[in-house]
Amino acid sequence: MSSLNSVDPQIAELIKAEERRQADTVKLIASENYASKAVLEATGTVLTNKYSEGYPGKRYYEGQQVIDQIEILAIERAKSLFGVNHANVQPYSGSPANLAIYLAFLKPGETVMGMGLPFGGHLTHGWSVSATGKWFNPVRYGVRQDTGRVDMDEVREIALRERPKLIFCGGTAIPRTIDFPAFAEIAREVGAVLAADIAHIAGLVAGGAHPSPVGHADVISTTTHKTLRGPRGAMLMATSDEHATALNKAVFPGLQGGPHNHTTAAIAVALKEAATDEFKDYARQVVMNAQALAEELSGRGFDLVSGGTDNHLILFDLTPKGIGGKPAAQALDKAGLETNYNSVPFDTRKPFDPSGIRIGTAGVTSRGMGVAEMRQIGAWIDQVVSAVAKGEDEAKHVITRVHGEVTELTSHFPAPGL
Ligand SMILES: Cc1ncc(COP(=O)(O)O)c(C=O)c1O
Repeated sequence: MSSLNSVDPQIAELIKAEERRQADTVKLIASENYASKAVLEATGTVLTNKYSEGYPGKRYYEGQQVIDQIEILAIERAKSLFGVNHANVQPYSGSPANLAIYLAFLKPGETVMGMGLPFGGHLTHGWSVSATGKWFNPVRYGVRQDTGRVDMDEVREIALRERPKLIFCGGTAIPRTIDFPAFAEIAREVGAVLAADIAHIAGLVAGGAHPSPVGHADVISTTTHKTLRGPRGAMLMATSDEHATALNKAVFPGLQGGPHNHTTAAIAVALKEAATDEFKDYARQVVMNAQALAEELSGRGFDLVSGGTDNHLILFDLTPKGIGGKPAAQALDKAGLETNYNSVPFDTRKPFDPSGIRIGTAGVTSRGMGVAEMRQIGAWIDQVVSAVAKGEDEAKHVITRVHGEVTELTSHFPAPGL
C-alpha cells in the first residue's frame, strides 16, 4: 500500500488497524468471511475505472473488449458451479438483488410472502421498515414455538389464504435446512414465483453441504460475500429464459446503472475457488464446526433455537443465562469473540436490545480451525457470558484472560487475505 501510505496515511493506518483487528479476532459473525488474497487483488484494480452499462455484447459505452470477457467468465462460472442456465452477476449487493426480483415479477401493492424478520427472514423479504414492506403487501410466516422450525403446513395455509404473487424462502438467521421442494410445491399450488434467497448458505450449496434450490425455485438470489467467500456483491440465477430476461431488465436498466466491474472480476475469482475440492472440504467442515460448537454450547446450558444447526449458523436465546444479547455480544467483542446480537423467535425484547446472539462458523473454518477449536470457543463464550451475567468485576477479569487466550489461538490460524 505504498501509494496509499503517502497520499492518505490516515486511511492507510485505519485499514492496517482493521486488518490487525480481523487477524486477532475470532470472527463468529454468520454473514462474514475472509476473502482470499486473489479475490482482494481483483477488487483493487483498474476495472473500477470503467463504465459498462448493459450486458456483454450489448453495452451503452465503448471500450468493453476486456470487461465483456470478465463478465462472461463470471457468468459461465456461476452457471457451472450452481448448475443453472442463467446468471446475472451485476447486483451491487443482496438487497438490490432482491429488489430486482420484485421489479421483475410484482407491481406495487401486490402480495409478497416471506419469513418475518424476527423469525430469521431478511428485511428485503417484505419487512415493514424496508421498501419491500412499504411498497408491496407483505404477508409472513415464521417458525413453530415448540420446534423453532418452519412449519410447511402453516406456510401452505397462509399461501392459500393470501395468494401471494411472490414467495421468498431462505433468510438471515435460519439454523436449519431449507425445504426447497416443499416451498416449490406451495408456490406452484398458488401460482406464485418462488425466490430462494441463499445469501447465507450459497457456499454450502456450492460445496455440496446443503441441498440446492436449483430445479425447485424459479429465481435464486445470493450475496457473494458470506459462506461463498467472495467480494461484497450478489448474483441472481434462474433456469427459465423467460425469468432470465425479466431479471436482467430489472437489474439494468430497472434499478442500477454501471456494474462494478472490479467486483465482477473478484466474483469470477471466488467462483473459480469455490469449484475446487478444497472448497468442498471447507463447506463440509463449516457444518461440522457449527455442529460441534452447537453441541458445546448446548451442553453448557445455552438455549439454541431449534436445538442445534444443520448449516453454518447458530442462534441462541440468552434469557436462561440472565442477560440480554446486546451486553453479552459487547462483552464477547471485548474478549476478541466477534458476534452479533439478534432477535430470537417470539422475542419479548426490542430488536435493538434483543434476547439472542447469532454466530456462524464460516470465518473460523476459512482460517483452518476445526472441532477442537470450536469446543474451546464454546467454552470461552460460556465463561464470558456467565461472568458478565454475574457482574462487572468478575467479568473484567474473565474478559482479560479470554482475550489473551483468543490472541494466542488466532496467532496459529492465519486468516486468508490478511
Ligand atoms: C438472506 C439475506 N438476503 C439478503 C441480504 C442482503 O445483503 P446485503 O447486505 O449485501 O444487501 C442478507 C444480508 O445479510 C441476507 O442475510
